[in-house]
Amino acid sequence: MTGLIARASSRLHGEVRLPGDKSISHRALIMGALAVGETRINGLLEGDDVMRTAAALRRLGAVVTRDGDGTWRVHGRGVGGFDEPETVLDLGNSGTGVRLLMGAVAGLPATTFFTGDASLRRRPMERVIRPLTEMGVQVLAREGGRLPLACTGPQVLLPLDYTLPVASAQVKSAILLAGIAAPGITTVIEPHPTRDHTETLLDQFGASVEIEEQADGGRRVSVTGEPELAAQPIRVPVDPSSAAFLAVAALLTPGSEVRLPGVGTNPLRFGLYEVLAEMGADIEIRSRQGPGEPVADLLVRSSELHGVTVPPEIAPRMIDEYPVLAVAAACARGTTVMNGLAELRVKESDRLAAVAGGLAACGVVVEEGEDRLVVHGNPGAVDGGTVIRSGLDHRIAMAFLVLGLASRDGIAIDDAATIATSFPDFAETLRTLGADITGHAE
Ligand code: S3P
Repeated sequence: MTGLIARASSRLHGEVRLPGDKSISHRALIMGALAVGETRINGLLEGDDVMRTAAALRRLGAVVTRDGDGTWRVHGRGVGGFDEPETVLDLGNSGTGVRLLMGAVAGLPATTFFTGDASLRRRPMERVIRPLTEMGVQVLAREGGRLPLACTGPQVLLPLDYTLPVASAQVKSAILLAGIAAPGITTVIEPHPTRDHTETLLDQFGASVEIEEQADGGRRVSVTGEPELAAQPIRVPVDPSSAAFLAVAALLTPGSEVRLPGVGTNPLRFGLYEVLAEMGADIEIRSRQGPGEPVADLLVRSSELHGVTVPPEIAPRMIDEYPVLAVAAACARGTTVMNGLAELRVKESDRLAAVAGGLAACGVVVEEGEDRLVVHGNPGAVDGGTVIRSGLDHRIAMAFLVLGLASRDGIAIDDAATIATSFPDFAETLRTLGADITGHAE
């Protein structure tokens, strides 16, 4: 395994191009494969996770072609037009890839086998299996609903009316992608709204999608089945979840000024930036006009942060950002309390345990609860001097490298390869800005 070490750096300065949004990239490929005609995609994330989805779609019969840097074409098969794949679809590390594709193949009256890496094989699939089973799909999985598993679609899929028991955009998306293959209307009720990229793309591709805001803050999303989806051009914005690591690195490194152009600002993805603003972060957000997902250029200057209490309601809008928020909190004055974090335990790793354990190893005082994390910040006093295990979790690896930049003795991670799932040029990008990140052999 090749590792990396990040050491205290002088100011970060400049403008960097960041990778495309992971969630939208998966969906762009899948929608292209379900549409009739040729979908052109710009700004696609070429990370391992998305490449796994591209490979799986090829096995299902779509023609997926790379024209150049982030520029791709997908020649789709139409709703219900996939072929039975001849071999197992291996989605690597990607929960989004496997869960969305389980929905997308629900309308295929044949058997599709799925597997993934050691991290993905530990993650719960029951949350997708349950609604798909209600729609008539037969699923055979390992104990506890784990991968590998096999999905066999019925001759006629049943539409579904389903209330999400956990706030999950992946589960919502799996149901909606199955729903377009079922005759009738499929509805997902989400008590706490999650990222809405699937709904937006379904609408853009010509499906009939209805979204009703509910009095209690929830949403009801309905899609009418068996539409003819027409290929559309898609421009993928920069991933706000990837930009978050650069933004926090700049905030924590004195004298920094960093420009991050073209970042997606979908409000259902932007919770971290609201919390950082409340902590005293100097981040200028200059919105750009244009069609599709909202986008802005961010200008981040180093700032003195203070602790805050982060309410559980915001968790679905920043679920991937807690590791880097905890890093910011470790370098803030005072205490940061984060509630409603149960879902962090079933991500690429148990992120709550990984963050709490990692911070403690770096000399930060933390309290870990079942679904909460309390970080006692101490600006300028993070020791570091330790090696953090990435544990097949890209966001744990990146978060602790960012903390390394603000530590006294530097912080190493044991495995840098996992970062390529979402941000292949992470270390190089930080180096361009002036960060001290080098290879590390254990
Ligand atoms: C994602 C949804 C979230 C998020 C993941 C991407 C998506 O997962 O953590 O990184 O693209 O739909 P959950 O749906 O499990 O919350």
